[in-house]
Amino acid sequence: MSFVLKAWSAERLGQVERALSAWVPHKAPAQLGEAMRYAVLDGGKRLRPLLVLAACEAVGGHLEAALRAACAVELIHAYSLVHDDMPCMDNDVLRRGKPTVHVQFGEATALLAGDALQALAFELLAPANGDIPDAVQARLCRLLAQAAGHAGMAGGQAIDLAAVGQSLTEDQLREMHSLKTGALLQASVMMGAATGEIGAAARQGLADYGRALGLAFQVVDDILDVTADSATLGKTAGKDAAQDKPTYVSLLGLERAGAYSLELLQHARAALATTRLADTRALLALAEMVVIREH
Ligand code: IPE
Ligand code: IPE
Ligand code: MG
Ligand code: MG
Ligand code: MG
Repeated sequence: MSFVLKAWSAERLGQVERALSAWVPHKAPAQLGEAMRYAVLDGGKRLRPLLVLAACEAVGGHLEAALRAACAVELIHAYSLVHDDMPCMDNDVLRRGKPTVHVQFGEATALLAGDALQALAFELLAPANGDIPDAVQARLCRLLAQAAGHAGMAGGQAIDLAAVGQSLTEDQLREMHSLKTGALLQASVMMGAATGEIGAAARQGLADYGRALGLAFQVVDDILDVTADSATLGKTAGKDAAQDKPTYVSLLGLERAGAYSLELLQHARAALATTRLADTRALLALAEMVVIREH
């Protein structure tokens, strides 16, 4: 039977939205709860949660652990966007088609909403209800912490800010993109896999798939910043050039950046084939969606 990503995603997106809405608090001091919900709910492609769930299904993993991991990684992503948009970073006013969190709630509340979302992500991974084995909880926390921190997203963002106005080599750009964006996407795959038991070869194949997909995602983000409009993106288009950021488009030009994203898709496909997992159709379709997307 042919695989239709839209049909596969619809049910899982519903689950993720309901879980996020249940887990992100309404009530927190002052405007904190409101800002957290504003940052997370009603928007975003939810690519990272879908990757977690697809990887979990591919390995026959623990579904409750995967739903928690899916939401946790989305909370880290949402926090990274709140901070990325702040005046001290990219200074953006539009995100997911709405005013950014600091525009809506002020800078201090935006900063704290990001902090609180990060903490909540780890709280979700370690429930006290006894449903998820301690070893799985620890594995998930380790993967997410490594991908979010100095050797992952935060480290990549530090390189991004230090690189404004500079021209990076292709190796340096790959390193920056792999950390700031790739790490969390690869971790989404590995967290899904960590909810089950798999052999070393399958783990390696999934890691390679996640690495290629993660890098491809930021290459395409760089391309869309140039080729798409703000209404389609739900965020301000053209800002990388305006802020003099080194990107795959500034380094290679649009055509070669596009060709590179397709090359990475081929890597992702080939890596997936080495896993020999029974059903990798959702993972495959998600990789295709990353490269062939309009926003
Ligand atoms: C945007 O990520 C920021 C990057 C890491 C490039 P997404 O394009 O996944 O943003 P949403 O979640 O769909 O809004
Ligand atoms: C953001 O990269 C990466 C993270 C938030 C970690 P960008 O700065 O390119 O993302 P957009 O284009 O603002 O979504
Ligand atoms: Mg940025
Ligand atoms: Mg930005
Ligand atoms: Mg961008």
